[in-house]
Amino acid sequence: MADYDLVVRGGEVATGFGTARCDIGIRGGRIAALAESIADGSPVLEAGGLLVLPGGIDSHCHIEEPARGGYVGSGAGAAVTVNEESFASASTSAFAGGTTSVVCFVPQWKGEGILPRLADYEQRAARGMLDYSFHQIITDPTEEVLEREVPQIVAKGIRSLKVFLTYEPLHLSDEEYIKVLVTARRNGCLVTVHCENYAAIKWRTEALIAAGLTAPKYHAWSRPSIVEREATHRAIALAELVDQPIQVFHVSCEEAAEEIARAQARGLKVWGETCPQYLTLTADDMDRPGFDGAAFMCSPSPRTTAEHAKVWEMIRRGTLDIVTSDHCGFSMAGEQGKAASGRDAPFRDIPNGIPGLAARLPILFSEGVSKGRISLDHFVRLTATNPARLMGLAPRKGMIAVGADADLALWDPRKKVTLTNALMQHAIDYTPYEGLEVTGWPVATVRRGAVVMRDGVVQAEPGTGQFLPRGPYDMVRPRGVLANGFDAASAPG
Ligand code: URP
Ligand code: ZN
Ligand code: ZN
Repeated sequence: MADYDLVVRGGEVATGFGTARCDIGIRGGRIAALAESIADGSPVLEAGGLLVLPGGIDSHCHIEEPARGGYVGSGAGAAVTVNEESFASASTSAFAGGTTSVVCFVPQWKGEGILPRLADYEQRAARGMLDYSFHQIITDPTEEVLEREVPQIVAKGIRSLKVFLTYEPLHLSDEEYIKVLVTARRNGCLVTVHCENYAAIKWRTEALIAAGLTAPKYHAWSRPSIVEREATHRAIALAELVDQPIQVFHVSCEEAAEEIARAQARGLKVWGETCPQYLTLTADDMDRPGFDGAAFMCSPSPRTTAEHAKVWEMIRRGTLDIVTSDHCGFSMAGEQGKAASGRDAPFRDIPNGIPGLAARLPILFSEGVSKGRISLDHFVRLTATNPARLMGLAPRKGMIAVGADADLALWDPRKKVTLTNALMQHAIDYTPYEGLEVTGWPVATVRRGAVVMRDGVVQAEPGTGQFLPRGPYDMVRPRGVLANGFDAASAPG
């Protein structure tokens, strides 16, 4: 008699704390059994010769996010635009790359509260197939928003507030940032922060443009590492003042990561995230003929191969303990894309952001595990276990354990693939990783027990993704102990 809806048979199951060859019995969308052998006539998904990983959790994705002038230096384009990536296309792309859950962003438009955008965004998200949760962006921290609206979204299970310290229409002053920190503390939310110094970038941008240096490559010149380091230092110092945990988003360089490491060594609850673009792309990628460099433009700016090595070291030490995609796709063609202000527009007017939802796991696995920079366990923690814990999604998500959702990626660690835009299966007309060769590839994705991708073919009903209400984060970082369990005093380097 069949006990399970599905049995994943014969895989090498990666838990984040070692691997074991075992079968996984799935019932009602959850993992019901882990056993050496399950042979009871249940339907079987063969995983012989494959790794079985927890489905990826991408806790920093911009999907179908309606913006009123955003992610540009100039505030250009006050018109309302929506990320081309819909929840349906993002779901397809995520499943193609082995990711099963995302945390994406509810916008706030200046002059409005947060509830109107939330109502709209909930409807958009409900049309997808992958499981999702929200960060709430705060761009206008009025008393009404902080005192009355934030408690309402927390009651719905939205447990993180996102702030920008740069971008023309979005950035907060120090005074506003402190108000958000205080509100987060009262309501048990995490604060996630885009750390770059607004005034410094504005000053350099104006100087570059006045000198006629307007091509995409000057985006990197407008925001060197020091502007990231300064804002990271300030974001941490003010969070320390308020005694509020924060996560620093998309750390691109050693100097910003060092600020986080120092804070962690003092026992502060400060976490650091990085992304594949800061491990593979460089500022030189933006130095392509004509407008082509815009394809690589994101903030912070991609840096150098020497900096990649330093970011890897910060991952190895546990300073940076989550790797997300910061998926934020703008097509090269099209009215709302990179060329929205024209192909001759100065870099300041080109939307910042690159797509990477499907590429995240293959790139990190290939550059990290296949090339011997990190262990398989570390990969699992960076891409699933740690985001689940920090975002308050554990133990339901992020691990292969009895009782957890049956979200799995069946992974061929030896398969060699050359990345192409078609393989990304997203709505964007390019991938910045075109031509990159990776070793390791997802051959099947299982979301809550349903096989939603097999050999690159995604099959899932729109509207089947579930909202994930979140509890408070549960990553404890005792004084002097790093996230990877080492004592700070004995850590390498
Ligand atoms: O350039 C980027 N990173 N675009 C997305 C928005 C953000 O800053 O995270
Ligand atoms: Zn950002
Ligand atoms: Zn982002």
